[in-house]
Amino acid sequence: MIIAIDGPAGSGKSTVAKLIAKRLSYRYIDTGAMYRAVAWTAEKKNLSLADETAMAEIAVSLKIEFVPDADGQSVLVDGENATAHLKNETVGRGAATVAAQKSVREVLVAKQRQIGKAGNVVMDGRDIGTVVFPQADKKFFFVADADERGRRRYEELKSKNPGLDLQNIIEEIRQRDHEDRNRKISPLVRAKDALEVDTTQLNIEEVTDHVFKNINNI
Ligand code: DC
Repeated sequence: MIIAIDGPAGSGKSTVAKLIAKRLSYRYIDTGAMYRAVAWTAEKKNLSLADETAMAEIAVSLKIEFVPDADGQSVLVDGENATAHLKNETVGRGAATVAAQKSVREVLVAKQRQIGKAGNVVMDGRDIGTVVFPQADKKFFFVADADERGRRRYEELKSKNPGLDLQNIIEEIRQRDHEDRNRKISPLVRAKDALEVDTTQLNIEEVTDHVFKNINNI
């Protein structure tokens, strides 16, 4: 069984994907973390994110592992626990740049297919239901108002960033949407057979229950 959850930043897909995977005892694969891992590694090596060949080489050589732990899941990049680094907003911006590069996507999509091959996986991202696993057993496409997604991101980040500005965060969300929806390769788009879930007015439990019921045809 392969469950694909796609949607824009802040739509709640990662949180819900994680909970669904836990309920079903499936693996959870955060494909955004893979694009982030490439950007993070490039920044550490002082490489230009615009250098597509270098970015693709990083994507090929990186060993990215998803390891279940007490906090849910850690992401190991070449053996180093990079979970906290990958959440960084600068890394997120870099990820959007490398995610627009054809050769990087080819490498990471191949890795995602390899990971998913064993089945019983919940995978979230932007192109899982359209490109990575068009034959996924269940597909969901999460949406939510940009203002609400900005507020969620703000709540998540403000404890570690006291100077954070809500309007800036909302602006960044809109900017990221624009980049993800308008890039030439694998733009963010709902698969025709994906169930759209608008999470604007719903809490995490409500969304998780809704998705879970749909998976089980209840
Ligand atoms: O979901 P996220 O914020 O961790 O994703 C980081 C960036 O990677 C974001 O710009 C979208 C992009 N991405 C993608 O293009 N395809 C995916 N399957 C996952 C993420």
